[in-house]
Formats: sequence, C-alpha cells, structure tokens
Amino acid sequence: LKRGLSTSSAMNAVIKNVTIVGGGLMGSGIAQVAAQTGHNVTLVEVNPDLIKKAEDNIVKSLARVAKKQFKDDPEGGKKFIAESQSRIKGTTDIAEAVKDSDLVVEAIVENMEIKHKFFKTLDEVAPAKTMFASNTSSLSIGEIASVTKRKDRFGGLHFFNPVPVMKLLEVVRIPETSEETYQAFMAWGKAIGKTCVTCKDTPGFIVNRLLVPYVAEAIRMMERGDASPRDIDTAMKLGAGYPMGPIELSDYVGHDTSHSILQGWHKKFPDNPLFVPNESVDKLVKEKKLGLKTGEGFYKYT
Ligand code: CAA
Ligand code: NAD
Repeated sequence: LKRGLSTSSAMNAVIKNVTIVGGGLMGSGIAQVAAQTGHNVTLVEVNPDLIKKAEDNIVKSLARVAKKQFKDDPEGGKKFIAESQSRIKGTTDIAEAVKDSDLVVEAIVENMEIKHKFFKTLDEVAPAKTMFASNTSSLSIGEIASVTKRKDRFGGLHFFNPVPVMKLLEVVRIPETSEETYQAFMAWGKAIGKTCVTCKDTPGFIVNRLLVPYVAEAIRMMERGDASPRDIDTAMKLGAGYPMGPIELSDYVGHDTSHSILQGWHKKFPDNPLFVPNESVDKLVKEKKLGLKTGEGFYKYT
C-alpha cells in the first residue's frame, strides 16, 4: 500500500481516531501502524514509565521503516517519523482516552479476568458509537464481549508480531457482530496496510490454531532430546522455508503469552493432545525468562 493512498483512505473512513490499550510488544506495534497511516492514536498504559517505554520502541521501529521506505530521501524519512510520532498521544486515563474514539483495540495481558475487568469499565466510559476489538491470541472473543452491552460493535482484530512487518490481520466475527462493524474493521485493516482474513470465534482463529501446536511439538522434540534447539530451528528454516525456527519463534512471541495460551486451551479441552503445555516453558515462566523481551528464554539475547 502506498503511504499517500493509505493516508487519504483514512480521511474517508469510519475509523479515524483509535485508542490502543496496552503499549507492550503488540500494542506499541498497532499504535505505530495506525499512526503511520494517518490515524489519530491514543495509547493507554498503566503508568508513565510504560508510556515512555512504548514511545521509545515506536520511534526505533519507525526508524527501521523509514530507512526502508525512504532509502534515498533522508529528509522525507525524518518527516515521516516526526509526523507519525505526533499522531500518538500517551495517557493513563482510559475515560479521557476514549472520549472521541471510533475504535478501541485492547492489547493487554492474556487473562480473561483482567480483560473482563477492563472491558466492563471501558463499556461504561466509552461513547455509544465506539467499536471495541480485542487482539487476544487465544481467548474467546464472545466470552470477552459478554461483559459489555455492545456485542454488535465488538469483534477480534488479531495482529501478528512484529506488527509493522507482518502483513496479516485476522478479523474475528462473533454471531452478534453487526455487518457495519465487520465492514468497518475490514476497511480499517486495509487502511493500515494489512491483508485481512475473516475468522470465526474458534480457539486460535486460523494462524494460532496451526502454529501453537506446531511450536509445542517442536519444544517436546527438544525436551525428549531428539534434536538440539539449534538443529530444530535450522531444519525448519532450511527444510520448510520458515523465516524463523520454532524454538526461536517461541522466544520471540514470549513464553508468558504462549504459556497462558496452552494452559487455557488445555483446561478447556483436556482431551486434545495438541494442547498439552510444555514443562520446559512452565519452568522458563517461573524463572521470568520470557524470551527476547526479557533477554533470555531458550536462547540468550545480549
Ligand atoms: N519494526 C519495524 N521493522 C522491523 C521490525 C520492527 N519491529 N522487525 C523487523 N523489521 C524489519 C527490518 O528492518 C528488516 O527490514 P529490511 O528487509 O528492509 O532490512 C526486515 O523487517 C527483516 O528484519 P531482519 O533483517 O532484522 O530479520 P529477519 O529477516 O530475520 O526478519 C522477522 C525478522 C520479520 C521477524 C522474520 O524472522 C519473521 O517473519 N519471523 C516470523 C515471525 C512470525 O511468525 N510472527 C508471528 C508470530 S505468532 C503471532 O504473532 C500471533 C500470536 O498471537 C502469538
Ligand atoms: P505485553 O506483556 O508485551 O504487553 C501488555 C501491556 O499491557 C503491558 O505493557 C501492560 O502494562 C499493559 N496493560 C496491562 N493491563 C493494562 C490496562 N488495564 N490498561 C492499560 N495497559 C495495560 O503483551 P503482548 O505480547 O503485547 O500481548 C498483548 C495481547 O496481544 C495479549 O492478549 C496477547 O495474547 C496478544 N497477542 C500477542 C502476540 C505476541 O506475539 N506476543 C501476538 C498477537 C496477539
């Protein structure tokens, strides 16, 4: 998608002002792509330090995008970074953040209770027109939406890490999602430069339903000592054409996130052997070795 085009399509769209809640790995990426395609973004975090951390990560990532998109035009690149940055406003006040919002994308921790608490409050303070979406990797969108009084304006918008690079957006409909909301989500996905696929509200939607069991089996292979982590990664990169091997990818996604995904599915579907959690991941989470984001997981990062 050309920059000019995506910016001008944002001008005509239903969704112009977006609120992103959670400025971690995913939320900061979502805020970035929305801002760089001309949307006004409010980014909500729990404290000012985390807002600053998200903003710093966004600037670093914008610089990588600018380096590629403005290879021969460093001045244009600087302008792109400054303009994108200026469209993002950080706050810790959710009521203030949604005052004028067309869409809220929630990207907080993968925990149903915490998401329920958040959406209950949000539903009370947000204007009636505001659409809600969750970026959950594995939880039921219908169950998350159940605490709100706007299921017709609720759906899943599932992004992939790293958000500025991965071109896919899964748009998840629940039976109550209105056609208008669904169309607005699809149009917004296109406006931020993503290719959208439509999913039902089933565990893991499309990508994670296939990817999570594959990664878990790779970890089991390592746990059994059938092959070393490096060799498993090399094998899937060179033998199956994946950009990253599964062990590397698990560090990249974050073990807290993948741990809660498998724990949740295992509890809900105890008879499915594909959903059995990995012992070595449990151990890493207890040791707070969450992968790339904490500097250590199965591998060490300096
Ligand atoms: N922001 C902006 N640009 C970035 C970036 C970021 N955070 N990360 C990477 N890039 C850019 C780089 O600048 C680079 O650009 P050039 O091609 O112009 O040089 C390009 O992306 C490639 O990056 P690198 O050269 O550093 O490294 P790479 O070639 O190994 O690619 C990767 C990195 C894109 C992450 C690639 O390894 C990859 O696609 N890995 C698989 C990722 C994946 O499967 N993600 C899905 C995880 S599952 C999920 O997200 C869902 C869930 O619910 C858990
Ligand atoms: P993360 O831990 O990097 O970030 C979550 C952020 O949310 C934290 O910075 C935390 O301070 C903030 N937060 C928590 N409660 C909040 C609240 N009430 N208000 C505002 N901010 C709050 O996690 P992440 O990896 O970005 O995952 C976020 C969501 O996205 C999860 O639902 C996850 O399943 C999903 N997801 C993750 C990936 C991935 O690869 N990591 C991919 C797609 C979707």
